Amino acid sequence: MSLEEEIRRLKEERHAVLLAHNYEIAPVQDIADHVGDSLYLSRKAMETDAEVIVFAGVRFMAETAKILNPHKTVLLPDLAAGCSLSDAITAEQLRAWKAQFPEAVVVSYVNTSAEVKAESDYCCTSSNAVRVVNSIPADREILFLPDMFLGEYVRRKTGRKMHLWVADCHVHGRLRPEEVDRVRTQHPGAPLLAHPECGCMSEALPHVDRVLSTDGMIRFAQETKEREVIVATEVGILHRMRALNPTTVFTPLDAGAVCPFMKATDLVDIRDALAQMRYRIEVDPSVADRARRALDRMVAS
Ligand code: 13P
Ligand code: SF4
Repeated sequence: MSLEEEIRRLKEERHAVLLAHNYEIAPVQDIADHVGDSLYLSRKAMETDAEVIVFAGVRFMAETAKILNPHKTVLLPDLAAGCSLSDAITAEQLRAWKAQFPEAVVVSYVNTSAEVKAESDYCCTSSNAVRVVNSIPADREILFLPDMFLGEYVRRKTGRKMHLWVADCHVHGRLRPEEVDRVRTQHPGAPLLAHPECGCMSEALPHVDRVLSTDGMIRFAQETKEREVIVATEVGILHRMRALNPTTVFTPLDAGAVCPFMKATDLVDIRDALAQMRYRIEVDPSVADRARRALDRMVAS
C-alpha cells in the first residue's frame, strides 16, 4: 500500500480532516482535503464536523484550530513546525508594551502564540489586516504586532495611528527592494505580487502591483492571462499556482525564500500522526477562552 493510500485509509478510520497551508511541500498539498491561507484554514477548522483535525502547517495554526474548535482533537504531525515570527514576542513582552500604552487597542497577527492572542483585542491575517484595523473606532490608537512590514503596510493603507512591534519573518524579511529592482529589469512587464510580510514592502511598495495573502495570489493565478508573473513570497505556493494555470510562467522573486518550518511535515509524519494520534495540540482553557474573543473577531472580518 502506498503512503497516500495509508493516509486516506487512516483518515477515514479516524474521521479526520487534513488541512494544509499553501507553503507545504507538494505531496502534502496534493493529499490534503483543504489547502489555503491562514484565514481560510482557520474557518475550515472552525466549521469541520470531522473528529480529528490534522494540521499540515505550523504550530500557531494548529493552536488556532484548537481554540476555535476546542472539542476536536488537533494533531500537528511534526513538532519542528514552529514559526520564527510567532516567537518574536512573548505574552510577558506584550504585557509590558501594553503598560506603556494603556489606552491602545492590541491587534495581533495570527502568527503569534495562544498566550499572546489571549492578551490581544483583535487578531488578523494577511488577508484581512486592513479590514480588521478599519473596524476599530477611528479615535483609538493601535499596537500592532509582531510583523513590522505587515504593520507598516496596514498603517499606510488605513492612515491610522499605529505603534509597530519591531520584528519580521526571516523568510519574507530577506526579500529586499533591491531584488525588486533587479527582477523588474530582467522581466520587464511582468506584474509583481508580494505578500505583505515582505521586506520589500516599505520602500519598494510603489513598484509592487498587488499586495496579497497567499490565497489572494492563488486567486490571481487562476484568473490571470499574463505571460509571466513575479511572486514575492515563500516558494511552496508556486506548486498550486502552476497547477491552476499552466500557461502563465510564475517566477519567484527569490528562489531561496524557503520556510524550513513549512517544509518540516512530510507524508510519513502525516501517516504516523494518524496512526499514533500524535502530536496532540492542547491550549490551556483559560488562555483559550481569552484568545477566542480576538480570534472570533478575525474569522468574522
Ligand atoms: P497567509 O495567511 O497569507 O497564508 O500567510 C501565512 C504565513 O505564515 C506567511 O508567512
Ligand atoms: Fe512563520 Fe515566516 Fe514561516 Fe510564515 S514563512 S510560517 S511567518 S517563519
